[in-house]
Amino acid sequence: MYNDVKNVLLSEAELSAKVAEMGAQISKDYQGKNLLLVTVLKGAVVFLTDLMRAIDLPAEIDFMVVSSYGSGVKSSGVVKIVKDLDTEIAGRDILIVEDILDTGITLEYLTQLLRDRNPASIKIATLLDKPARRKANIQADYIGFSIPDEFVIGYGLDYDEKYRNLPFIGILKPEVYTV
Ligand code: IMP
Ligand code: MG
Repeated sequence: MYNDVKNVLLSEAELSAKVAEMGAQISKDYQGKNLLLVTVLKGAVVFLTDLMRAIDLPAEIDFMVVSSYGSGVKSSGVVKIVKDLDTEIAGRDILIVEDILDTGITLEYLTQLLRDRNPASIKIATLLDKPARRKANIQADYIGFSIPDEFVIGYGLDYDEKYRNLPFIGILKPEVYTV
C-alpha cells in the first residue's frame, strides 16, 4: 500500500496538531449551543473520530451517505442521498464534518437540503480544501489545510475505496489511476 504513495503531504503529527486546534476553536464557538456533528460517510470518519475527541462540549453525531463520485477520481456532478440522518435537526446547531471540499457540488447540495429542515445554524468544518477546483459557491467555516490540486489519499480519503487506513495524507502516484 505504501508503495503507491508518491509523497506524504500531511504527516500524522501535522494532522493531529491541526485537529486539536480545530477542536479547541469549535469548543469555544459552540459553547452553550446544541451541537450536532453531521458527517458524510465514508471519507470523513477518521477526521470525525479525532475531531469529536478534541471537542470539549456535549456534542452528538449523526451520519449521511452521499455519493457524488463513482469509484474514480473525477466528479460526476451527480449527488445522491444514499442514507439520510436519523436525527431531527430543527433548532439544532449543525456542523457538517467533511474530509475534503473539492468542487463543492456535494456540500452545496447537502447544505441546501439540511437548511430546508430549519436548523438553528449550519456550518462546515473540512479537513482539506482544494480551492482551485471549486465549482459551487460554497466555503467552509473551519478549514484544516488548503492543498494544491492533486489527488490525495489516506486518513479516511480513498481511491477506489482503498488507502483510507493510511495514517497520513499522501499523494497517490499518478500511474495508479492513469492506466
Ligand atoms: P465535491 O466537493 O463535491 O467535488 O466532492 C467532495 C468529495 O469528493 C469528497 O468528500 C471526497 O470523497 C471526494 N474527493 C475529492 N477530492 C478527493 C481527493 O483528492 N482524494 C480523495 N477523494 C476526493
Ligand atoms: Mg471518496
